[in-house]
Amino acid sequence: MTTMKWGIIGPGGIASKFADALMQSKQGRLYAIASRSVERATEFAKRYNVALTYNQYSDLMNDNEVDIIYIATPHSHHYQLAKQCLEAGKHILLEKPLTINAAQTKILIELAQAKGLLFQEALWSRFMPCFAQVKKWLKQGEIGTLHYIQSDIGFAFGDQAEHRLNNPLLAGGALLDLGVYSISLSLFLLDQVPDKIQAMSHLSASGIDEQTQVNMHFPKGQLSQFSCSIKAKCTNSMTLVGELGRIHLPEHFWVGEEAQLWLDGKLHETAAFPHAVNGFEYQIEESMRCALAGQVCSEFMPHQASLAVMQIMDEVRKQIGLTYADEIEKI
Ligand SMILES: NC(=O)c1ccc[n+]([C@@H]2O[C@H](COP(=O)([O-])OP(=O)(O)OC[C@H]3O[C@@H](n4cnc5c(N)ncnc54)[C@H](OP(=O)(O)O)[C@@H]3O)[C@@H](O)[C@H]2O)c1
Repeated sequence: MTTMKWGIIGPGGIASKFADALMQSKQGRLYAIASRSVERATEFAKRYNVALTYNQYSDLMNDNEVDIIYIATPHSHHYQLAKQCLEAGKHILLEKPLTINAAQTKILIELAQAKGLLFQEALWSRFMPCFAQVKKWLKQGEIGTLHYIQSDIGFAFGDQAEHRLNNPLLAGGALLDLGVYSISLSLFLLDQVPDKIQAMSHLSASGIDEQTQVNMHFPKGQLSQFSCSIKAKCTNSMTLVGELGRIHLPEHFWVGEEAQLWLDGKLHETAAFPHAVNGFEYQIEESMRCALAGQVCSEFMPHQASLAVMQIMDEVRKQIGLTYADEIEKI
């Protein structure tokens, strides 16, 4: 088995979760950590018994031993860092949302395809067996024709100006961080992209979207409606409603640990998917499989779908007047 050496850029909250899962991988090895801070790099490396740290992200990108890089910085920095990694010849697993806008995503896709490198969006839910089960139930016609999907996602993150979700310069707000799950999973479950979109939002004084509601109409007649919020403790559930019943993904739906099939108002079947580690293992293993097979992305989260999600978020942003500084929107 070929070992793949991983580097991490941005050892923050989610990078710890990623590292916890990578520790359990047979094929993947956490090889180096890059942080802007010597202390953070050292502390993170110590926790995971990693010998090598860098205090410049570019040094990690230029390390010939590194096979693949996980980028877990705030959204604002995804595009530039991903571009530099690809230019340095590295495969990448990039946190969601891929970029700030679709134009940036398109450039990264073209670059990865030209270089034959993996450029994978880390929308972890898409790689999970739970969503494959939901698709199976839909295909089998368990709930008859699917008519609409409803979901909400959000937490009360508080008002601290320094929190990345409250900071417009880090592309804060609910849509890019949380709404992305409802959009991406709706596209995955419906196998279509919407032909009509309506959005409404409340923006903060600093201009980020504190809560956003979106209605999407799909060409085959289905609807998907979602709310996302960085102010409210949401139900964090998703329900798919058909003529014979519904499929319910309870809190937290994107974590993919349980799917329920309800027929005639009664719980008919529960499918449980306890994670071997924490749910990150699926995207980690699939990224390595794809990189070694010479694929530029996984079929679970293909480039076309990543781009479609970004285009929908561009349209929502246009409707709700959500703009970010040129500095982070530029290509
Ligand atoms: N898949 C999931 O379930 C999930 C969950 C949460 C977040 N995420 C995604 O992961 C990314 C990071 O989120 P997080 O919650 O882990 O963030 P976080 O805890 O704030 O960590 C972000 C890291 O990015 C680095 N960074 C680089 N430039 C920065 C800047 N200008 N300001 C602040 N940090 C900067 C920092 O590392 P150094 O300073 O040490 O270099 C920091 O540790 C986001 O894109 C988010 O959407 C995914």
